[in-house]
Amino acid sequence: MSWLSTMDEEAAARAEVGLARELRPRPAGDAMIDLAGNDYLGLAGHPDVIAAAAGALAAYGLGATGSRLVRGSTDLHAVLEEALAQHLQCDSALVYSSGYLANLGAIRALVRPGTLVVSDAHNHASIVDGCRLACAGRLGRCGASTVVAPHADPAAVRSILAAHPGRPAVVVTESVFSVDGDLAPLRQLYEVSRQFGALLMVDDAHALGIRGASGAGAVVEAGLAGQPDVVVTATLSKSLGAAGGVVAGPAQLRRHLVDTGRTFIYDTALPPAVAAGALAALDLLRRGSELRAVLAARSSLAVDRLRAAGLEVSTPDAGVISVTAPSADAAYSWAKRCRERGVAVGCFRPPSTPDGRSRLRLTINVGVPSRVFADALDTIVKEAVW
Ligand SMILES: Cc1ncc(COP(=O)(O)O)c(C=O)c1O
Repeated sequence: MSWLSTMDEEAAARAEVGLARELRPRPAGDAMIDLAGNDYLGLAGHPDVIAAAAGALAAYGLGATGSRLVRGSTDLHAVLEEALAQHLQCDSALVYSSGYLANLGAIRALVRPGTLVVSDAHNHASIVDGCRLACAGRLGRCGASTVVAPHADPAAVRSILAAHPGRPAVVVTESVFSVDGDLAPLRQLYEVSRQFGALLMVDDAHALGIRGASGAGAVVEAGLAGQPDVVVTATLSKSLGAAGGVVAGPAQLRRHLVDTGRTFIYDTALPPAVAAGALAALDLLRRGSELRAVLAARSSLAVDRLRAAGLEVSTPDAGVISVTAPSADAAYSWAKRCRERGVAVGCFRPPSTPDGRSRLRLTINVGVPSRVFADALDTIVKEAVW
């Protein structure tokens, strides 16, 4: 069959340049030291979170049994949305079954016919796909288009907006970027956006729980929460240790998404047990200033240790640290050797890197004991041989 042999050929070509990917199912309670996942605050396995989820599992059953507008909305979803709106200091919040779908839905809602979307060059794939979906094809808006702006560059955003006078515009950025862990200049982006009457959409996925008072995120920290021209999205799968996504902003946006948002309407709701677990995690996260202090101390320790070994390391603004590898192959075998020595690290290669460079991505998990964390850094340094 020719389509299968085409896939075989493409797979062989990817393997040739070190871009084959592999699933590694982990058993319950595996002994790997986790510097690869996104459970920054160690809440995924917290007893209060598990108890809340288990209680809801018994009370509501496994699945949500329907989309949100049919049978999938439970009182837990409503309470979670209230709690998230309050935490993110927005008028309203709408929960999705993933952060990916939240981004697709939010961007599509903000893009109107003729809208110009200005998207940061390092934005996550879900934002990139959201821009594509909103601007192109049969579902796209007539005359809408996306311009990719140089990374974290408000002056470049200004030039792009200035070059398209009179067009409605949306500026889209992550707050803490998922690959390099750097913080976007949110305040300046907001000022530029306002100057041109543009909306600012911020994906706060990697800052929620980590930055801002009570872990309210980078948008709150920048003093932008609740502004009528700011929309926040986030995933519940990182510092909350759960799953699901959220779009937060003015009540009119929520109404619009409920009435028209395809990734909200045509998708089975988040399982109620996950909503209950996320709610319990949110409560712990709010009170988690000690966890945030440990995370910050660990980030600096890791950067110092890795830089002292001569490695090229990003400067983390939250819990993501990127360590450059000389090639995709080198990154792959480095991560593999770490894994064989019991340390799980992220291995990011094109197309998952914004600049085509391969790296290890380390994520800080405060659930890892500090001695074990220090040993894991030693392992990463020792295995950096190519
Ligand atoms: C910045 C960012 N936005 C969105 C997502 C998607 O969230 P989810 O995994 O909940 O679909 C991720 C990662 O998973 C992310 O890193």
